[in-house]
Amino acid sequence: MNEKIIKSADRVKSNGEVFTPNRIVKLMLAQPEIQAKIHDLSATFLEPSAGEGAFLVELLKQKMAVALSKSASAVTYNRNCLIALSSLYGIEYLEDNVEMLVMNMITTFNQSYVQDIANFDKKPNQRVLESAKVIIRANMKQGDTLKHTTSDGSPIIFSEWSSRGRMVQRTEYTFESILAQSGPTGTVQNASEQLDLFAGTDEFDDTSKSKPTKPRYAICNWVDIYKQELESES
Ligand SMILES: C[S@@+](CC[C@H](N)C(=O)[O-])C[C@H]1O[C@@H](n2cnc3c(N)ncnc32)[C@H](O)[C@@H]1O
Repeated sequence: MNEKIIKSADRVKSNGEVFTPNRIVKLMLAQPEIQAKIHDLSATFLEPSAGEGAFLVELLKQKMAVALSKSASAVTYNRNCLIALSSLYGIEYLEDNVEMLVMNMITTFNQSYVQDIANFDKKPNQRVLESAKVIIRANMKQGDTLKHTTSDGSPIIFSEWSSRGRMVQRTEYTFESILAQSGPTGTVQNASEQLDLFAGTDEFDDTSKSKPTKPRYAICNWVDIYKQELESES
């Protein structure tokens, strides 16, 4: 296959932009410890210099295959494929790469989902496709991984998607506070590695070092994430 590894010599020089060929990505993801995490649908991955998604797109394909293998019905698959998707996070500095990253993730999700849901003799559920877009836009961020900020200087914010039974709770945290939470002994080791997010805690709460940003999202069904309903103040 003819893969484009570099776009221009200038971009290589200014941003170190060299894309990883898919066969290398596959080889790297084939390591047993990575495969174990791929088979754990909610185990998170962060690609801190995501480019156009060489790693994230392949991770998504493999996690969706796992989601299918763990699902006995369309209802379960609808939930499992969104759980798989919500575990993948990326940061990329260049705006045009982020646009491609988001588009590649949406295209990959849609293609796998439309193909896989047919296994259950069901038509694609539009709520799943719309919720997938919301998750992808929340998890793929333009920004500087080293400074923890976006191009306008505001903090990079990520959403944690925690299963609550068959429902989901979305909570936002700054990238900075997630790194502080992981600390020196967490699985976040340095900004050039593939990282686990939200490591070392089952869930965040108000007593942890990481403080959720406001407002809070209401607990909802996974397929209703697209509504982005907020918790009522009480
Ligand atoms: C070597 S490429 C790798 C891209 C992708 N991970 C892959 O394997 O194809 C590095 C990417 O990191 C981005 N990048 C460079 N510095 C960055 C920073 N401080 N924060 C986020 N992304 C950055 C570049 O724009 C480029 O797309």
